[in-house]
Order: sequence, then C-alpha cells, then structure tokens
Amino acid sequence: MRTRRNTLVALAVAAGISLPVTASVFAQVTDTPPTPAEIPLHVPAVDYRVEWVQLGSFSVLGENPADGAAEIHSVYTTREAVEAYLRDGEFPQGAVIVKDVWSTRTEELTTGTASYAGELEGRFVMVRDTEGTLGASPRVGDGWGWAFYPGDETNMTVTGDYEVDCLACHEPARDQGLLYLQGYPVLRR
Ligand code: HEC
Repeated sequence: MRTRRNTLVALAVAAGISLPVTASVFAQVTDTPPTPAEIPLHVPAVDYRVEWVQLGSFSVLGENPADGAAEIHSVYTTREAVEAYLRDGEFPQGAVIVKDVWSTRTEELTTGTASYAGELEGRFVMVRDTEGTLGASPRVGDGWGWAFYPGDETNMTVTGDYEVDCLACHEPARDQGLLYLQGYPVLRR
C-alpha cells in the first residue's frame, strides 16, 4: 500500500502533521511545508533522463527481500560534470546531481525475479557550491545545495534544513565528498 501511504504522507505534510516515518523515501519527508526552493536547486527543466549521463542506480530492498526491490534510485548528472570529475577528481562548481526515486513493479521474468521502475515517488537534487554562489540558505552547506521534491514536483521543496533532512545519512560518505560513489561505475578512474 505504498501509494496509499504516499497520499497520506502528502496530505499530512500539507496539513503540517508529522507522521512516524518508516520507509526510506519518507525519511526525507519532514513536516516542513512546501517552500519555493532557490532556482539553481530546482529539478532541472531539461529532460535529464535523455540528455544527461546516468551515473548508476541502487535497488533498495523492502521488509521482505524475496518480494524484490522496494525502490529503485537512479542518479544523473551532465556529461560536462562527468568529464570534469574524471579529469579533476571532483565535481565542479554548479554541477547538478539528480536522484530519481521510483516505486517498483516486480515480476518473474526469464532472468529471475526482476524489479523495475514503477511510479516516480520523488527527486533529490544536489548542486555543487564551493564558492558560495548559492548564497546563505539552510539548504546550502558542506559544499552543496540540497533539496527534495515529492512526486513530480520541480520547484516546491519540502527540505527545510539540509543538516536536519539530509546530512546524517550522507555522513558515512564524507570521505568521498558526501557522495555514494561506489554506485557510479562511470566515475571509476
Ligand atoms: C535515509 C538516509 C538519507 C537521507 C535522509 C538522504 N539521503 Fe541522499 N542518499 C542516501 C543514500 C544511501 C544514497 C545512495 C544510495 C541510495 O540512493 O540508495 C543517497 C544518494 C543521494 C544522491 C545521489 C548522489 C550521491 O550522494 O551519491 C543525491 C543527489 C541525494 N542523495 C540527495 C539527498 C538530499 C538533497 C537529501 C536531503 C533532502 C538526502 N539526500 C537525504 C541516503 C539519504
């Protein structure tokens, strides 16, 4: 009943009620009401799934792994950002990374139990900012701007403060620039 819970969470968030959080995507849905994000932090207007490079994807299992993946996460950035990373070992100022979070469908295919993308649950955006051009905001710090958008929303974020909503979960990747690089074969050098 993930869709139903999604709807409940969305309604509760809109009403300013906080719910106990269970599945991974809901960990980012705080009681922060939707707020206009800084423009560079918006979900890119370009069709990034066609125009950009897919760095990699993660399948996240649910409570019963035999049911297949509960979510598929797909991560994208621009070709220019990939080239800069391969050259310099870090993402350049202004580089944008988008992570799609998909619910899944799972079927017995001729390969085995296969899970694939269903509905878009939400999107995470990180924008490289080492020069402070994003300005002072509770969504900016540690060299990045940070925002989450539920569903197919592109401008109104439910991220208030990245230190509350994002950072603890990215801390384990601190020595790789806060990124889960192990999932991105394109960036292996
Ligand atoms: C529940 C823990 C958790 C929270 C909270 C969280 N992240 Fe992440 N994030 C991860 C993990 C783990 C990955 C890589 C593996 C995956 O997606 O399953 C990741 C990957 C990403 C990626 C892809 C690039 C990378 O870091 O490898 C982006 C972009 C991202 N997160 C943005 C955000 C933003 C913005 C927030 C806050 C609004 C946030 N995340 C909050 C755990 C979290």
